[in-house]
Amino acid sequence: MKFDYAIEANRKRWDELAELHFSDSDYDVKGFLEGKNLLKELELKELVDVNGKSMLHLQCHFGLDSLSWARLGAKVTGIDFSEKAILKAQQLAKEIDVDAEFVVSDMSSLIENMDDEKFDIVFTSYGVLYWLPDLISWGKVISHFLKPGGTFYIAEAHPIGNIFNDEIKEPKLEVMYDYFKQEKPHKFEEDGSYANPDAKLENKTEYGWNHSIGEIINSLIDTGLEIEFFNEHEEICWQQFPWLKLKKSGMYTYPDDFKGAKVPLTFSLMAKKK
Ligand SMILES: C[S@@+](CC[C@H](N)C(=O)[O-])C[C@H]1O[C@@H](n2cnc3c(N)ncnc32)[C@H](O)[C@@H]1O
Repeated sequence: MKFDYAIEANRKRWDELAELHFSDSDYDVKGFLEGKNLLKELELKELVDVNGKSMLHLQCHFGLDSLSWARLGAKVTGIDFSEKAILKAQQLAKEIDVDAEFVVSDMSSLIENMDDEKFDIVFTSYGVLYWLPDLISWGKVISHFLKPGGTFYIAEAHPIGNIFNDEIKEPKLEVMYDYFKQEKPHKFEEDGSYANPDAKLENKTEYGWNHSIGEIINSLIDTGLEIEFFNEHEEICWQQFPWLKLKKSGMYTYPDDFKGAKVPLTFSLMAKKK
């Protein structure tokens, strides 16, 4: 397909990042194995009552969030295109003795790669949409796997945050990139990741697409989902700009003396399948 080169480069990079993040203190695998729930306050507050529900977790990385939902009683299936990440997720599930399934698949071929099971909840979060060339097929995947009456929930970096220069050291938002999706992906060559900015990587190339709020919402409405709520938040779970302030909750937000105009850094959305 048209963007196979980009997806393949991203997959190699995410394979490497899965290994790196697994031993990274930001991901806190040790705390998780000791029983800590690694979900953020936001999704715990907004997506309640998962006990006994079947849940499909899209782009689950190595499963810390999937298994945190499983500890709250959800019957979880996590999917990710990184085989390294999925192997780690399966290993973690075994170690904590939780019944969860993990499947290796690219988002674009998930419908063909999974059994025709339907879920009560489809969940996805934090750093997922930017890697997808096309949200029309993303919306179709969500709708395909939801039971009638089922719930879709996403908490994600707000696309407005991606338009600013993220290398300026002082507290300032300077527009640098387009807000609307461009046909050709952004291409970056860089070491490090949001969880470990100093790491040296073999796979430096990554490709991404910024998807506007209109594009995200319409891709869900077009597949027959009904939006229940759409919320915007002044904080994000990684240090998107070097000057963001770390809160006790583990989220990053504007420093108290921020002089500029604030924009949202995260959004959350719930939708129902009719
Ligand atoms: C930022 S991580 C998800 C973060 C997750 N909330 C966490 O903190 O663990 C993004 C995930 O998307 C996966 N991914 C990226 N592009 C994908 C694609 N086209 N199909 C399936 N998974 C993909 C990556 O392998 C990675 O695990």
